[in-house]
Amino acid sequence: MKGCKRKIGPFDCCTVVLGKCEKYLKQIPKGAIDLIVTDPPYGKNLVSWRKEHGPILGDDHFPMETIKQLIKLPRLASYFFCHNLWEHESLPKPKSVLVWEKVEIGGTGDTKHEHSRDYEMILFYPRIPAHRFKGRPSDIISASKAGNYLHPTTKPVRLIEEMLEWYNFKTVLDPYMGSGSTGQAAKALGKHFLGFEADDKHHATAVWNINEEPGPSSQRRFEPDISQPSLDIF
Ligand SMILES: C[S@@+](CC[C@H](N)C(=O)[O-])C[C@H]1O[C@@H](n2cnc3c(N)ncnc32)[C@H](O)[C@@H]1O
Ligand SMILES: [Zn+2]
Repeated sequence: MKGCKRKIGPFDCCTVVLGKCEKYLKQIPKGAIDLIVTDPPYGKNLVSWRKEHGPILGDDHFPMETIKQLIKLPRLASYFFCHNLWEHESLPKPKSVLVWEKVEIGGTGDTKHEHSRDYEMILFYPRIPAHRFKGRPSDIISASKAGNYLHPTTKPVRLIEEMLEWYNFKTVLDPYMGSGSTGQAAKALGKHFLGFEADDKHHATAVWNINEEPGPSSQRRFEPDISQPSLDIF
């Protein structure tokens, strides 16, 4: 994958590195990352109805120890998508919890949950005193689901773009890059990014998505096949 020719420690900036992030985090120089926006495995052993996806690597546990490390890394803030907050007692207390409101409500979603799952939580850890927003963003973000056609838990690029737009920043890190949404969002906004992805199939998808992405998320080439219902958990 071609990066932007800049370096972040030993890593090529604006690339996705194939491998487990834990192995590499210590090699990221202090101050090199402004933001983390990431969607770690939730520890739910998710099984997508799209059998072709298979299980998510590392989804047998929420990567608590790595998250504790990650929180200390960026200059401005970290954001972690998270399912059931109360299942993670040893999680450092976030400053606040944001909500991604999935605008197409209803659907089957997580059928073990009593209510239809129409939102997701995002844990917010600002770095005090450096943290600064551009304005005063709401803690509710509305965005359509992504469809999960290429990855079982794809986050909408537009959702990540909106979060990045809250900041004046240079570089965002996504240590659990999946299909590449954070990289696509950063690229669309003309920002630098670095990603890690441990699963070679998802790594290839991320590289394709980021390289081939023609521009703003609304113009994606991989249009979802609307003849298929989206019944995935996320
Ligand atoms: C919840 S998904 C992220 C989905 C992503 N937000 C997207 O929009 O496609 C978590 C991803 O982390 C990857 N993963 C799991 N353990 C990892 C690790 N230790 N280091 C890097 N990636 C890992 C999984 O393969 C999976 O693709
Ligand atoms: Zn770059």
